[in-house]
Amino acid sequence: MDFQELEKTAQAIVADGKGILAADESTGTIKKRFDSIGVESTEEARRAYRELLFTTAGAEEFIGGVILYDETIRQSASDGTPFPRLLESKGIVPGIKVDEGAKPLALAEGETVTEGLDGLRERLAEYHQLGARFAKWRAVITIDKNIPSEYCIWTNAHALARYAALCQESGLVPIVEPEVLMDGDHDVERCYMITEWVLKTVFEQLYYQKVALEGMVLKPNMVISGKKAKNRAGVEEVAEKTVKVLKACVPAAVPGIAFLSGGQSDEEATAHLDAMNRIGDLPWPLTFSYGRALQHAPQQAWSGKSENVAAAQRAFIHRAMMNSLAARGQWKQDLEKKAA
Ligand code: 13P
Repeated sequence: MDFQELEKTAQAIVADGKGILAADESTGTIKKRFDSIGVESTEEARRAYRELLFTTAGAEEFIGGVILYDETIRQSASDGTPFPRLLESKGIVPGIKVDEGAKPLALAEGETVTEGLDGLRERLAEYHQLGARFAKWRAVITIDKNIPSEYCIWTNAHALARYAALCQESGLVPIVEPEVLMDGDHDVERCYMITEWVLKTVFEQLYYQKVALEGMVLKPNMVISGKKAKNRAGVEEVAEKTVKVLKACVPAAVPGIAFLSGGQSDEEATAHLDAMNRIGDLPWPLTFSYGRALQHAPQQAWSGKSENVAAAQRAFIHRAMMNSLAARGQWKQDLEKKAA
């Protein structure tokens, strides 16, 4: 295995204010998104929608990598070009979601562990052959009165590190995603504490399992108040606390940190990223790996109609550009109004 190649790929994905488009919704999740815009989730509708995103002119200026789903990595654009080749030809690195979802954790009510390790080595070899150069695995940590437990955090961290080691062995850059959910009414302090605990545990496991930090990307949550919290922390506080916890937990050897949006509104996700980059003097690029916060606007604009493709692509490139500016700390709120 070629560690230099892994490092180069990891750096390329997050270089020059670029981020990641998470277009790896499972069939169940994309159905939910399509339901909300009144589109039937057929294989062809999913293909047409992903084609719309991937063929958006100029997206490669702002997007360094796209995370695909198993179905999508095997699909092609209308002209017959397989999606991984299409992305590659634009200079965008194709990636693949390889976990099999968060399942109930035995003897731990309300908690989950992410599955998908069995047969992973063989699946990674196939994905590599299909053109993937990085992968994603999402662990889910829920905050409630008496959770998360150490058992849940440790088990998920252990699985994340097993996945990451297998990826590097197969020549894929692992995106390591331990997501502390923003569901609930917890305050920002509690999110800080849990995020710190999770990140410390994850990096300990990555160390024990020989993962080269130089050849991975971290995909964390921001330190943010629960969605139902009474007094939600403002943009500056979220930015300060997130940068603080990352500095305390993430070694400088990591080539990049790309946040998930986790249910934040489009503009909130952009504003938070921008505020963090304005703090400056950081050991790693801080960028985005958004799913919903990049796709909500284009999905609304598209609504399943081919005559709306151009409008949907405009909505997508706008969000990609705003987030890329935020990744450089150069976003301004009035840029949003002008586009509206
Ligand atoms: P969201 O940005 O919608 O949270 O999705 C990112 C992702 O890839 C979750 O695994």
